[in-house]
Amino acid sequence: MCGIVGYTGPRQAYPIIIKGLKRLEYRGYDSTGVALQNNNLKVYKKKGKVADLEEAIVGQDLNAHAGIGHTRWATHGEPSDRNAHPHQSASGNLAMIHNGIIENYAQLKNELIKKGYQFKSDTDTEVLLNFIEEIKINNNCSLEEAVRIALKRVVGAYVILLLDKDDPQTIIAARKGSPLVIGIGKGEHFLGSDASPMLEYTKEVVYVNDYELAIIRPDELILKNLGNEKITPYVQKLDLELAAIEKGGYEHFMLKEIFEQPQTIYDCLRGRLDANAGTITMAGIQQYADQLIKANRIVMIACGTSWHAGLVAEYIFEELCRINVEVEYASEFRYRNPVINEGDVIIAISQSGETADTLVAIETAKAKGAIILGVVNVVGSSIARASHGGAYTHAGPEIGVASTKAFTAQLAVLTMMALKIAHIKGSISEERYRLLLKEMEEVPEKVAIALKQNDHIKQLADKYKDARDFLYLGRGYNFPVALEGALKLKEISYIHAEGYPAAEMKHGPIALVDENLPVVFVATKDAYHEKVVSNMQEIKARKGKVISVITEGDTTSTELSLDTMVIPETDEILAPMINVVPLQLLAYYIGVAKGLDVDKPRNLAKSVTVE
Ligand code: F6R
Repeated sequence: MCGIVGYTGPRQAYPIIIKGLKRLEYRGYDSTGVALQNNNLKVYKKKGKVADLEEAIVGQDLNAHAGIGHTRWATHGEPSDRNAHPHQSASGNLAMIHNGIIENYAQLKNELIKKGYQFKSDTDTEVLLNFIEEIKINNNCSLEEAVRIALKRVVGAYVILLLDKDDPQTIIAARKGSPLVIGIGKGEHFLGSDASPMLEYTKEVVYVNDYELAIIRPDELILKNLGNEKITPYVQKLDLELAAIEKGGYEHFMLKEIFEQPQTIYDCLRGRLDANAGTITMAGIQQYADQLIKANRIVMIACGTSWHAGLVAEYIFEELCRINVEVEYASEFRYRNPVINEGDVIIAISQSGETADTLVAIETAKAKGAIILGVVNVVGSSIARASHGGAYTHAGPEIGVASTKAFTAQLAVLTMMALKIAHIKGSISEERYRLLLKEMEEVPEKVAIALKQNDHIKQLADKYKDARDFLYLGRGYNFPVALEGALKLKEISYIHAEGYPAAEMKHGPIALVDENLPVVFVATKDAYHEKVVSNMQEIKARKGKVISVITEGDTTSTELSLDTMVIPETDEILAPMINVVPLQLLAYYIGVAKGLDVDKPRNLAKSVTVE
């Protein structure tokens, strides 16, 4: 949700900022802008993607050794040139970019209007910037001091970067609730919403914490809290290579990430699961094993695709661990007065580790005494840091806005967690435990086999791309997979799609079925298979177009389906990791067939750091 980049040092700032913004475009792409310290403070900004800005400012003097850049996902004010960041203060002396939302901006704006301020945009950012400038002028203080005073009045979430015309090599930055990474080079500093803009320049980074303010010069990084006390920056080594954030020959990041899944699931299991020894090693879970075994209730908290992973995990934990599990939308959970009892464990699931709703929800639960375990992909992210323990998913950077490899890695981690707890608790037989470990080791290979359906699914996409609606149905472990298949299609192709438990379909959605409606069944062999076959018959009898994901050799489902996507057999508990793959491909190819930008679907952003 908005990407920010900054640079100060001896190099040309503009190319570093533009390249960084392209890497962060997954966070928002409705407008772009840069501010450069170039004799004067110059701001260039435009509605549209980074490439549109680049094109628009060809020929300008972009020579500068300090600058900031922004790629926007609109919150206050429609996407437009004037609402794009950076914003300039009333005097023109300050420029600022912002990721987040200033909740009390209306009140601050009224105060400023009374003092004669006029606004050029509809944004909360311009309000905060002028508020800072007003304090700086009135108190005759430094920009750093003015920012500190201003932030004490601010309600909301932010990362802000500021430039001051009169201090051309300094960037002032502050954070609360939105991510900020500072890369440390030799006589230079880099800033980003994540570490991707600085990867080729440095491996040494500092993750700025909430309520911290940074004064960044080429050869100096000063970190302070809002009480003006200095904090020693905690420098960490980045474990991320450039190749991991490039397309590697694929047409889109989404396709690359779908095809990476055999490797990402393998990476997730590696060093943790040993089928021969019968062990699962997860230090961040082991630490809380006692609490998990005794837990009266586990509450999974997440949004979107991560919430679907939580739903699959609900079935797995209840089956294997015999613990009551509830799966909550973070955005709903945080605004209730949720009942947290002693002995409840919260599992927060998030790819980005920055989703505002999930972050606030776990803080709510933490304040009520719950133990928080994070299942997070982005190392060092806010949710990872706010959790007591947990496990990283190790899926590598996910750049396509629609989540794919992060989902299967979340399932792999959650399944290992459930197996580990069940084994310690004794709620699973040794034989079943050993069998599941062995089957789990085979999942990466089975996902690779499922991916061989690629060309066939591409043809199916051409056949069904003009449908107006889709229904996705599944039961048991495959019900959340149906939800996920429908979400992927909506996001990528803008076709209306609904996921439903196959049996519930009779209680309403069946009214939608006619000869124009494709109905995708996730119908692999499991305990419910016969029931799902009956549901297929019900759709077929009403002339719906049955498309099904089936286990190889399933002739009954083949006969009932117009088209099938065939995948290898596995234990039903592990099947979601494989069954979702053809649905990801179907959504991807339908989006491509419709000529859409699948990596950057409209209105979406990868990391939703606002409520
Ligand atoms: C769907 C998608 C979103 C995210 C959701 C949560 O493809 O990407 O629904 O799953 O915004 O994001 P994280 O997992 O980063 O908390």
